[in-house]
Amino acid sequence: MISSSSQPDDEAPLNDLGEWEEDLLQRYPEPSAKVKKQDEFRDYRAEARASVKEFYRLNHSRQTLDFVRKKKEDFLSLDRRRMGIWEAMEFLNTLVDDSDPDTDLPQIEHLVQTAEAIRHDDHPRWFIVAGLIHDLGKILCLFGEPQWAVVGDTFPVGCAFSEKIVFPEFFADNPDSKIPEYQSPSGIYEEHGGLDNVHISWGHDEYLYHVVREYLPDEALAMIRYHSFYAEHRENAYSHLLNERDQEMFTWVRAFNPYDLYTKSDIRPDLPALEPYYRELIAEFFPDTLRW
Ligand SMILES: [Fe+2]
Ligand SMILES: [Fe+2]
Repeated sequence: MISSSSQPDDEAPLNDLGEWEEDLLQRYPEPSAKVKKQDEFRDYRAEARASVKEFYRLNHSRQTLDFVRKKKEDFLSLDRRRMGIWEAMEFLNTLVDDSDPDTDLPQIEHLVQTAEAIRHDDHPRWFIVAGLIHDLGKILCLFGEPQWAVVGDTFPVGCAFSEKIVFPEFFADNPDSKIPEYQSPSGIYEEHGGLDNVHISWGHDEYLYHVVREYLPDEALAMIRYHSFYAEHRENAYSHLLNERDQEMFTWVRAFNPYDLYTKSDIRPDLPALEPYYRELIAEFFPDTLRW
């Protein structure tokens, strides 16, 4: 078993990857639990844990356009492993979080809970399968990648960092903040030129998108590729980079987000009972082995 904190402490401020997601829930509480928007923002800033802030400091100061290009070069040849989707789910589960094992569900359970909630609402099978696999890119951690290059809100690089991104002040230490070409809202990109042409900060979303891109409809791929892009799907801070097709796809990204954020339950899914259904679903979309 590999622990997510096997990295030096200064590279791994979070107790576990789930701490980022718990923090997202503070920032974007379920609508029923919502307080006044102003208060919510103030409280969030005051209450964010030191570990989460440190995580964002690392993420925002180190995710540069150069860094993203290098990671793509390194990982997108997809020559690290060959394995099927279910095998990848089991592999991801070997990533053990150090927090209380009674309260923290293994990764596979978050995936199945997300998929089950989507299935319960009678969505199409490609939507269910997107829920089932959406976090598999977190296996980057098992390849030795630091937390700040696996999880966290994603955002475009090569253009101005939006004030709507959580803790925007940490971008002052990002070397890209000193590059004049990158300081306009569209930076090196064309206005409404489409997100396919835009480099987004590197992490589990982008990586998984490339692993599965041949096998799923565009709507499912958008959910996978942009599910951590809160600055757009929640804050609409980068709409000037989206083309019409992206706008259409983001209605699906927004439809997906509540299933990701609000389906964590302490009632553990009955995995042995559900496994046959999900193996069949996986077989409908994917070959027996994929390149990772
Ligand atoms: Fe995720
Ligand atoms: Fe997730």
